[in-house]
Amino acid sequence: MAWNSRVAKVAPFRVMHLLEMAQAREAAGHDVIHLEVGEPDFPTPEPVIAAGQEALAQGRTRYTPAAGLPALREAIARHYAEHFGAAVDPSRIIVTPGASGALLLASQLLVEAGDRVLMADPNYPCNRHFMALAGAEVGAVSVGRDSGWQLNGALVAEHWRPETRLAMLASPSNPTGHTLDAAALAGAVAERGGTLLVDEIYQGLNYDEAPLSALSLSNDAFVVNSFSKYFGMTGWRLGWLVAPEAAIEPLTRLAQNVFLAAPTPSQHAALAAFTPECREILEARRQTLKARRDVLLQGLARLGLAPDVPPQGAFYLWLDISRYSRDSQAFCQRLLEEESVAITPGVDFAVRGGEHHVRIAFTNDVARLEEAVERIARFVSRL
Ligand SMILES: Cc1ncc(COP(=O)(O)O)c(C=O)c1O
Repeated sequence: MAWNSRVAKVAPFRVMHLLEMAQAREAAGHDVIHLEVGEPDFPTPEPVIAAGQEALAQGRTRYTPAAGLPALREAIARHYAEHFGAAVDPSRIIVTPGASGALLLASQLLVEAGDRVLMADPNYPCNRHFMALAGAEVGAVSVGRDSGWQLNGALVAEHWRPETRLAMLASPSNPTGHTLDAAALAGAVAERGGTLLVDEIYQGLNYDEAPLSALSLSNDAFVVNSFSKYFGMTGWRLGWLVAPEAAIEPLTRLAQNVFLAAPTPSQHAALAAFTPECREILEARRQTLKARRDVLLQGLARLGLAPDVPPQGAFYLWLDISRYSRDSQAFCQRLLEEESVAITPGVDFAVRGGEHHVRIAFTNDVARLEEAVERIARFVSRL
């Protein structure tokens, strides 16, 4: 049987193979330090768990409206007003199964065969795949120190073509942790009649400056977000999409058809994520992550491996390993086999340059991160 040819464009996550190997080593009794998976190591905050349990106890397990619980859409709108100075009407918010659900809706609405989408390279690989599944071509624009590891107005001007419809970015980015100058980018995209899609899933995990949202600049941008990262709710599968008013009717139709509604108990639980009690927990976690980032940066600087500019957000470091290796997969595999440290090869994220980059997730406590740096130091001293 012949499969849909678009599926052939969806590459597997190479890190999953590495994760399997790491788990096998652990099962064999090795002390593996996991820095490979993009998931916070904190549990879901207690107030959210309690609200989820209460929702289940009260039998809140039936479908919600396709766009989500009205109370949750209102709570998200208040969150934008309070923390980002953005006036977002709740009717412009669609609650989805994770940011992934939002990316599916946005990609299906915004592009089709023959369209081209500009993205930064490196980038979260699923973004490329969502666009490929919608039939669009991806123009992966190499970014680096000069452009702040993001697309900027000059790069948009250089790479925009007549068939380009969309610029799609994550800010803070996975895998670099760098944030976007959304104002400059929104202008350059709007001038060309294009659309801006910003994935703000790591919003709130900002360490040096107050977090921003593209929504405080433009009502025309499509913005993806999630309860997965800042709110520590990966497995609850809950996110949202903010879209211009005119797009809400077709997006709701799509949501009705592709997933009916986001998980109901998760939506009730998420209402507690915006309470002051929960915010206090989340902000303390942000400080913990900042301290971890700084410990790793210091340790890696001694090995000549620290990134040229410290990441402003998310929980990743994107490291150039070219002084030690030009085969990131082999580097990560040997590091795991010889020192039991699991990190991700850059080839998962970058169309170009991935073979001499790796991503480290600081999803472990400071003592484990220090131990990881010691092990990496020992490993590279043998290369
Ligand atoms: C940039 C980015 N967007 C979207 C997602 C998907 O997240 P969710 O769990 O909300 O579906 C991830 C997950 O790692 C991510 O890094």
